Amino acid sequence: MGFDRVVMLATGARHINDVLWTPDPRRGPARPCRDARTMIRDATASDYPAIRQVVRHAFGRDDEANLVEQLRSDRDALVELVAASDIAVQGHILYSPLAIVRGGETLRAAALAPVSVLPAFQKSGIGGALIRAGNARCKELGCVGVVVLGHAEYYPRFGFSSVLAESLQAPFSGPHFMALEFEPGALRRRRQSAVRESVWDLR
Ligand SMILES: CC(C)(COP(=O)(O)OP(=O)(O)OC[C@H]1O[C@@H](n2cnc3c(N)ncnc32)[C@H](O)[C@@H]1OP(=O)(O)O)[C@@H](O)C(=O)NCCC(=O)NCCS
Repeated sequence: MGFDRVVMLATGARHINDVLWTPDPRRGPARPCRDARTMIRDATASDYPAIRQVVRHAFGRDDEANLVEQLRSDRDALVELVAASDIAVQGHILYSPLAIVRGGETLRAAALAPVSVLPAFQKSGIGGALIRAGNARCKELGCVGVVVLGHAEYYPRFGFSSVLAESLQAPFSGPHFMALEFEPGALRRRRQSAVRESVWDLR
């Protein structure tokens, strides 16, 4: 059973929009998708050619589409979702497994990269819907948090923080390196946490 069906059965919602935009004071006001038929669901192999086109058009180059295919072939796709209508894939998001070593303990986390929305469908809430659904899926899978390297003005609205990411020893720093923790304090122990492996080849 697909993730969207599980969520909708669990919540009694009839449409993914009803699930993703459940009022939550931390998220701010809800915005519906421009196309109300857009659904968030697990990516399947039959979506792969369309996903390649979505990612290529969103980024305007092949690198990120190649990354997606490389992660799949390396079995490093922890969560892969699409936003799709009955006829077209409009958006895509992928998370890879990320190990965070804290003291002697290894914590499961996820790295978000990439997220893409076809230019014609941008600014209608699809990117945000994919990120919220993907984060929720990572939490369900037992991840303590998510790390992202991306637009400093975009991800904070989903709870990502560059200050929080400072508590991770990683070859990244600055406003574009952000983290989100699902439980308060899960990532905050300064100088004790190190990102050990990820999509960004940190090993
Ligand atoms: C980033 C992206 C996934 C957002 O998807 P979307 O469906 O347009 O996002 P939403 O509709 O949920 O949110 C739109 C908001 O995001 C903002 N936003 C989009 N791209 C942004 C960017 N690069 N920097 C800052 N804010 C950005 C928009 O300005 C808009 O802000 P508003 O709500 O204040 O009007 C999409 O623009 C995209 O595919 N971009 C190209 C690929 C890319 O850059 N991916 C992210 C890599 S970190």
